[in-house]
Amino acid sequence: METVVVNEVGPRDGLQNESAQVTPGDRAELIRRLVATGIPAVEVASFVSPKAVPKMAGADEVVAALDLDAADFSALVPNMKGYEMARAAGARAVAVVLSATDTMNRKNINMDLTTTLRVCSEILEQARRDGISGRAYVSVAVTCPFEGRVPEFRVLDLTRRMFAAGAFEVTIADTIGAANPSQVKELFTALVEEFGARRLAAHFHDTRALALANAWQALECGIRKFDSSIGGLGGCPFAPGAAGNLATEDLVSLLHQAGFHTGIDLEALLEVVTHVRSLVGHDVGGRTLPWLRSRHAAA
Ligand code: HMG
Ligand code: MG
Repeated sequence: METVVVNEVGPRDGLQNESAQVTPGDRAELIRRLVATGIPAVEVASFVSPKAVPKMAGADEVVAALDLDAADFSALVPNMKGYEMARAAGARAVAVVLSATDTMNRKNINMDLTTTLRVCSEILEQARRDGISGRAYVSVAVTCPFEGRVPEFRVLDLTRRMFAAGAFEVTIADTIGAANPSQVKELFTALVEEFGARRLAAHFHDTRALALANAWQALECGIRKFDSSIGGLGGCPFAPGAAGNLATEDLVSLLHQAGFHTGIDLEALLEVVTHVRSLVGHDVGGRTLPWLRSRHAAA
Protein backbone atom coordinates (compact mmCIF):
# COMPACT_ATOMS: atom_id res chain seq x y z
CA MET A 1 0.00 0.00 0.00
CA GLU A 2 1.40 3.38 -0.93
CA THR A 3 1.75 6.01 1.80
CA VAL A 4 0.58 9.60 1.55
CA VAL A 5 1.83 12.08 4.15
CA VAL A 6 -0.70 14.48 5.64
CA ASN A 7 0.69 17.73 7.03
CA GLU A 8 -1.95 19.18 9.33
CA VAL A 9 -2.06 23.00 9.14
CA GLY A 10 -5.17 23.69 11.23
CA PRO A 11 -3.26 25.01 14.25
CA ARG A 12 -1.63 27.62 11.97
CA ASP A 13 -3.59 28.26 8.74
CA GLY A 14 -6.84 27.36 10.49
CA LEU A 15 -6.60 29.26 13.74
CA GLN A 16 -4.90 32.34 12.22
CA ASN A 17 -8.20 33.10 10.52
CA GLU A 18 -10.65 32.49 13.37
CA SER A 19 -12.26 35.15 15.52
CA ALA A 20 -11.67 33.13 18.69
CA GLN A 21 -8.34 33.71 20.40
CA VAL A 22 -7.25 30.19 21.27
CA THR A 23 -4.60 30.16 24.00
CA PRO A 24 -1.16 28.64 23.36
CA GLY A 25 -1.99 25.92 25.91
CA ASP A 26 -5.19 24.98 24.08
CA ARG A 27 -3.34 25.06 20.74
CA ALA A 28 -0.71 22.67 22.10
CA GLU A 29 -3.46 20.39 23.42
CA LEU A 30 -5.15 20.43 19.99
CA ILE A 31 -1.83 19.47 18.37
CA ARG A 32 -1.39 16.59 20.83
CA ARG A 33 -4.90 15.34 19.98
CA LEU A 34 -4.14 15.58 16.24
CA VAL A 35 -0.91 13.63 16.64
CA ALA A 36 -2.74 11.00 18.70
CA THR A 37 -4.90 10.23 15.63
CA GLY A 38 -1.74 9.23 13.75
CA ILE A 39 -1.14 12.48 11.86
CA PRO A 40 2.59 12.45 11.11
CA ALA A 41 3.26 16.16 10.49
CA VAL A 42 1.78 19.39 11.89
CA GLU A 43 2.44 23.06 11.17
CA VAL A 44 2.04 24.19 14.75
CA ALA A 45 2.31 27.98 14.66
CA SER A 46 3.67 31.02 12.87
CA PHE A 47 6.26 33.39 14.28
CA VAL A 48 4.70 36.51 12.83
CA SER A 49 3.91 39.96 14.15
CA PRO A 50 1.09 39.74 16.70
CA LYS A 51 -0.10 43.08 15.32
CA ALA A 52 -0.52 41.49 11.87
CA VAL A 53 -1.95 38.16 13.08
CA PRO A 54 -3.05 38.37 16.73
CA LYS A 55 -4.30 34.77 16.77
CA MET A 56 -0.76 33.38 16.40
CA ALA A 57 0.58 35.20 19.49
CA GLY A 58 2.45 32.87 21.82
CA ALA A 59 3.97 30.66 19.10
CA ASP A 60 7.00 30.11 21.33
CA GLU A 61 4.75 28.79 24.12
CA VAL A 62 3.08 26.38 21.69
CA VAL A 63 6.45 24.96 20.58
CA ALA A 64 7.73 24.78 24.17
CA ALA A 65 4.66 22.79 25.26
CA LEU A 66 5.18 20.04 22.66
CA ASP A 67 7.12 16.80 22.73
CA LEU A 68 9.20 17.54 19.64
CA ASP A 69 9.86 13.85 19.03
CA ALA A 70 6.12 13.08 18.74
CA ALA A 71 5.74 14.15 15.09
CA ASP A 72 7.26 16.23 12.32
CA PHE A 73 6.45 19.71 13.64
CA SER A 74 7.14 22.89 11.68
CA ALA A 75 6.49 26.61 12.12
CA LEU A 76 5.91 29.32 9.53
CA VAL A 77 8.37 32.22 9.54
CA PRO A 78 7.93 35.39 7.42
CA ASN A 79 11.31 37.03 8.08
CA MET A 80 14.64 36.60 9.86
CA LYS A 81 13.22 37.87 13.14
CA GLY A 82 10.55 35.18 12.99
CA TYR A 83 13.17 32.58 12.10
CA GLU A 84 15.34 33.57 15.07
CA MET A 85 12.33 33.41 17.39
CA ALA A 86 11.42 29.95 16.06
CA ARG A 87 15.00 28.72 16.51
CA ALA A 88 15.12 30.13 20.06
CA ALA A 89 11.85 28.33 20.85
CA GLY A 90 13.43 25.05 19.73
CA ALA A 91 11.68 24.56 16.38
CA ARG A 92 13.37 21.88 14.28
CA ALA A 93 11.66 22.79 11.00
CA VAL A 94 10.49 26.08 9.52
CA ALA A 95 8.51 27.10 6.46
CA VAL A 96 9.16 30.36 4.61
CA VAL A 97 6.36 31.93 2.60
CA LEU A 98 6.99 33.33 -0.85
CA SER A 99 4.03 34.52 -2.88
CA ALA A 100 4.27 34.33 -6.65
CA THR A 101 3.24 37.95 -7.20
CA ASP A 102 4.63 41.26 -6.06
CA THR A 103 1.30 42.53 -4.70
CA MET A 104 0.55 39.41 -2.66
CA ASN A 105 3.97 39.56 -0.99
CA ARG A 106 3.40 43.20 -0.10
CA LYS A 107 -0.07 42.53 1.30
CA ASN A 108 1.01 39.46 3.24
CA ILE A 109 4.42 40.35 4.62
CA ASN A 110 5.04 43.95 3.53
CA MET A 111 7.90 43.12 1.16
CA ASP A 112 8.12 43.15 -2.62
CA LEU A 113 8.80 39.93 -4.50
CA THR A 114 12.53 40.60 -4.92
CA THR A 115 12.99 41.32 -1.22
CA THR A 116 10.91 38.28 -0.25
CA LEU A 117 13.05 36.07 -2.46
CA ARG A 118 16.20 37.37 -0.80
CA VAL A 119 14.77 37.04 2.73
CA CYS A 120 13.45 33.50 2.11
CA SER A 121 16.82 32.47 0.66
CA GLU A 122 18.71 33.94 3.62
CA ILE A 123 16.45 32.11 6.08
CA LEU A 124 16.82 28.80 4.23
CA GLU A 125 20.60 29.21 4.12
CA GLN A 126 20.73 30.06 7.84
CA ALA A 127 18.46 27.13 8.67
CA ARG A 128 20.80 24.82 6.82
CA ARG A 129 23.75 26.12 8.86
CA ASP A 130 21.72 25.67 12.07
CA GLY A 131 20.65 22.11 11.23
CA ILE A 132 16.99 23.17 10.98
CA SER A 133 14.86 21.80 8.11
CA GLY A 134 13.74 24.55 5.77
CA ARG A 135 10.63 24.23 3.65
CA ALA A 136 9.19 26.88 1.33
CA TYR A 137 5.66 27.76 0.30
CA VAL A 138 5.05 29.16 -3.13
CA SER A 139 1.70 30.87 -2.54
CA VAL A 140 -0.91 32.12 -5.01
CA ALA A 141 0.63 29.60 -7.38
CA VAL A 142 -2.36 29.57 -9.73
CA THR A 143 -4.34 32.77 -9.17
CA CYS A 144 -3.51 35.88 -7.15
CA PRO A 145 -6.45 37.83 -5.69
CA PHE A 146 -4.73 41.06 -6.79
CA GLU A 147 -2.87 40.24 -10.03
CA GLY A 148 -5.01 37.42 -11.44
CA ARG A 149 -3.73 34.30 -13.22
CA VAL A 150 -0.11 33.52 -12.37
CA PRO A 151 2.08 32.28 -15.23
CA GLU A 152 3.39 28.75 -14.78
CA PHE A 153 6.98 29.69 -15.65
CA ARG A 154 7.08 32.02 -12.65
CA VAL A 155 6.02 29.26 -10.23
CA LEU A 156 8.69 27.00 -11.73
CA ASP A 157 11.29 29.73 -11.42
CA LEU A 158 10.45 30.52 -7.77
CA THR A 159 10.41 26.82 -6.88
CA ARG A 160 13.81 26.42 -8.53
CA ARG A 161 15.18 29.32 -6.49
CA MET A 162 13.84 27.91 -3.22
CA PHE A 163 15.49 24.55 -3.89
CA ALA A 164 18.71 26.33 -4.85
CA ALA A 165 18.60 28.20 -1.53
CA GLY A 166 18.40 24.88 0.33
CA ALA A 167 14.68 24.12 0.78
CA PHE A 168 14.24 20.41 1.37
CA GLU A 169 10.67 20.65 0.11
CA VAL A 170 8.47 23.18 -1.68
CA THR A 171 4.74 23.36 -1.01
CA ILE A 172 2.71 24.69 -3.91
CA ALA A 173 -0.29 26.60 -2.58
CA ASP A 174 -3.60 27.58 -4.16
CA THR A 175 -4.11 30.27 -1.52
CA ILE A 176 -7.59 31.43 -2.50
CA GLY A 177 -8.91 28.11 -3.78
CA ALA A 178 -9.29 29.34 -7.34
CA ALA A 179 -7.53 26.47 -9.12
CA ASN A 180 -9.33 23.82 -11.11
CA PRO A 181 -8.10 20.28 -11.82
CA SER A 182 -6.98 21.09 -15.39
CA GLN A 183 -4.75 23.88 -14.13
CA VAL A 184 -3.46 21.63 -11.33
CA LYS A 185 -2.64 18.92 -13.85
CA GLU A 186 -0.75 21.33 -16.07
CA LEU A 187 1.20 22.97 -13.24
CA PHE A 188 2.06 19.81 -11.28
CA THR A 189 3.04 17.90 -14.42
CA ALA A 190 5.61 20.60 -15.18
CA LEU A 191 6.78 20.80 -11.54
CA VAL A 192 7.13 17.03 -11.16
CA GLU A 193 8.97 16.79 -14.46
CA GLU A 194 11.59 19.29 -13.32
CA PHE A 195 11.87 18.64 -9.57
CA GLY A 196 10.45 15.16 -8.98
CA ALA A 197 7.34 14.45 -6.91
CA ARG A 198 9.15 13.49 -3.70
CA ARG A 199 10.32 17.03 -2.90
CA LEU A 200 6.95 18.69 -3.60
CA ALA A 201 3.79 19.06 -1.53
CA ALA A 202 0.38 20.56 -2.30
CA HIS A 203 -1.78 22.98 -0.29
CA PHE A 204 -5.35 23.52 -1.45
CA HIS A 205 -8.16 25.73 -0.21
CA ASP A 206 -11.77 24.71 -0.77
CA THR A 207 -13.38 28.03 -1.77
CA ARG A 208 -14.98 26.60 -4.92
CA ALA A 209 -15.45 23.08 -3.54
CA LEU A 210 -12.60 21.85 -5.73
CA ALA A 211 -9.93 21.12 -3.12
CA LEU A 212 -10.56 17.36 -3.16
CA ALA A 213 -10.68 17.24 -6.94
CA ASN A 214 -7.45 19.21 -7.08
CA ALA A 215 -5.82 16.94 -4.51
CA TRP A 216 -6.81 13.93 -6.58
CA GLN A 217 -5.29 15.51 -9.66
CA ALA A 218 -2.04 16.26 -7.80
CA LEU A 219 -2.02 12.64 -6.58
CA GLU A 220 -2.35 11.51 -10.17
CA CYS A 221 0.69 13.65 -10.97
CA GLY A 222 2.63 11.76 -8.28
CA ILE A 223 2.39 14.11 -5.28
CA ARG A 224 2.39 12.17 -2.00
CA LYS A 225 2.35 14.97 0.57
CA PHE A 226 -0.60 17.27 1.24
CA ASP A 227 -1.44 20.05 3.66
CA SER A 228 -4.94 19.94 5.11
CA SER A 229 -6.75 21.45 8.04
CA ILE A 230 -8.92 19.76 10.65
CA GLY A 231 -12.57 20.64 10.16
CA GLY A 232 -11.66 22.63 7.01
CA LEU A 233 -10.60 25.64 9.05
CA GLY A 234 -8.43 28.21 7.37
CA GLY A 235 -7.71 31.08 5.08
CA CYS A 236 -5.18 33.84 4.75
CA PRO A 237 -6.26 37.11 6.40
CA PHE A 238 -4.39 39.04 3.67
CA ALA A 239 -5.78 37.21 0.63
CA PRO A 240 -9.37 38.27 -0.05
CA GLY A 241 -11.52 35.28 -1.01
CA ALA A 242 -9.43 32.66 0.77
CA ALA A 243 -11.87 30.25 2.37
CA GLY A 244 -11.05 27.17 4.42
CA ASN A 245 -8.36 24.65 3.61
CA LEU A 246 -9.00 21.19 2.30
CA ALA A 247 -10.47 19.45 5.39
CA THR A 248 -8.20 16.77 6.85
CA GLU A 249 -11.14 14.39 7.29
CA ASP A 250 -12.09 14.83 3.60
CA LEU A 251 -8.53 14.21 2.46
CA VAL A 252 -8.01 11.16 4.69
CA SER A 253 -11.40 9.74 3.70
CA LEU A 254 -10.50 10.11 0.01
CA LEU A 255 -7.06 8.57 0.51
CA HIS A 256 -8.36 5.58 2.45
CA GLN A 257 -11.16 4.93 -0.04
CA ALA A 258 -8.62 5.06 -2.87
CA GLY A 259 -6.38 2.53 -1.10
CA PHE A 260 -3.61 4.78 0.22
CA HIS A 261 -2.06 4.42 3.66
CA THR A 262 -1.94 7.48 5.94
CA GLY A 263 -1.51 5.98 9.41
CA ILE A 264 -4.44 8.15 10.55
CA ASP A 265 -7.44 6.83 12.48
CA LEU A 266 -10.45 8.53 10.84
CA GLU A 267 -12.78 7.87 13.75
CA ALA A 268 -10.34 9.50 16.15
CA LEU A 269 -10.15 12.44 13.74
CA LEU A 270 -13.92 12.93 14.06
CA GLU A 271 -13.54 13.42 17.79
CA VAL A 272 -10.93 16.09 17.16
CA VAL A 273 -13.37 17.87 14.82
CA THR A 274 -15.85 18.01 17.74
CA HIS A 275 -13.09 19.35 19.98
CA VAL A 276 -12.21 22.06 17.41
CA ARG A 277 -15.84 23.21 17.42
CA SER A 278 -15.61 23.86 21.12
CA LEU A 279 -12.38 25.84 20.62
CA VAL A 280 -13.60 28.10 17.81
CA GLY A 281 -17.23 28.36 18.91
CA HIS A 282 -18.93 27.48 15.65
CA ASP A 283 -19.72 24.56 13.41
CA VAL A 284 -16.78 23.14 11.47
CA GLY A 285 -16.24 20.03 9.38
CA GLY A 286 -15.51 18.82 5.90
CA ARG A 287 -18.11 17.66 3.42
CA THR A 288 -17.61 14.02 4.27
CA LEU A 289 -18.45 14.54 7.93
CA PRO A 290 -22.18 13.59 7.93
CA TRP A 291 -21.40 10.32 6.10
CA LEU A 292 -18.46 9.54 8.38
CA ARG A 293 -20.53 10.24 11.48
CA SER A 294 -23.43 8.05 10.32
CA ARG A 295 -21.02 5.23 9.49
CA HIS A 296 -19.37 5.62 12.89
CA ALA A 297 -22.76 5.64 14.68
CA ALA A 298 -23.88 2.51 12.79
CA ALA A 299 -20.69 0.61 13.67
P1 HMG B 1 6.33 45.04 9.08
O1 HMG B 1 5.42 45.99 9.79
O2 HMG B 1 6.83 45.42 7.74
O3 HMG B 1 7.57 44.64 9.99
O4 HMG B 1 5.60 43.64 9.01
P2 HMG B 1 8.73 45.44 10.60
O5 HMG B 1 9.98 44.69 10.36
O6 HMG B 1 8.67 46.90 10.19
O7 HMG B 1 8.39 45.38 12.17
C1 HMG B 1 7.19 45.94 12.71
C2 HMG B 1 7.00 45.38 14.11
O8 HMG B 1 6.76 43.95 14.04
C3 HMG B 1 8.20 45.56 15.01
O9 HMG B 1 7.71 45.63 16.32
C4 HMG B 1 8.95 44.26 14.85
O10 HMG B 1 9.78 43.96 15.93
C5 HMG B 1 7.80 43.27 14.77
P3 HMG B 1 7.42 47.06 17.06
O11 HMG B 1 8.74 47.76 17.01
O12 HMG B 1 6.38 47.76 16.23
O13 HMG B 1 6.94 46.68 18.40
N1 HMG B 1 8.12 42.05 14.03
C6 HMG B 1 7.81 40.82 14.46
N2 HMG B 1 7.20 40.38 15.58
C7 HMG B 1 7.05 39.04 15.69
N3 HMG B 1 7.43 38.15 14.76
C8 HMG B 1 8.03 38.57 13.65
C9 HMG B 1 8.25 39.93 13.46
N4 HMG B 1 8.80 40.66 12.47
C10 HMG B 1 8.71 41.94 12.83
N5 HMG B 1 8.42 37.66 12.72
C11 HMG B 1 5.77 41.24 9.01
C12 HMG B 1 6.23 42.54 8.37
C13 HMG B 1 6.32 40.13 8.15
C14 HMG B 1 6.34 41.16 10.40
C15 HMG B 1 4.23 41.24 9.08
O14 HMG B 1 3.70 41.63 7.84
C16 HMG B 1 3.70 39.87 9.43
O15 HMG B 1 3.92 39.37 10.52
N6 HMG B 1 2.97 39.25 8.52
C17 HMG B 1 2.43 37.90 8.75
C18 HMG B 1 1.59 37.53 7.62
C19 HMG B 1 0.94 36.18 7.87
O16 HMG B 1 1.08 35.56 8.90
N7 HMG B 1 0.18 35.74 6.86
C20 HMG B 1 -0.49 34.48 6.93
C21 HMG B 1 0.44 33.32 6.70
S1 HMG B 1 0.78 33.02 4.99
C22 HMG B 1 -0.56 32.06 4.47
O17 HMG B 1 -1.53 31.91 5.18
C23 HMG B 1 -0.46 31.34 3.15
C24 HMG B 1 -0.18 29.83 3.32
O18 HMG B 1 -1.20 29.22 4.09
C25 HMG B 1 -0.10 29.12 1.98
C26 HMG B 1 -1.24 29.52 1.05
O19 HMG B 1 -2.41 29.14 1.30
O20 HMG B 1 -0.88 30.17 0.08
C27 HMG B 1 1.18 29.60 4.01
MG1 MG C 1 -3.14 28.58 3.22
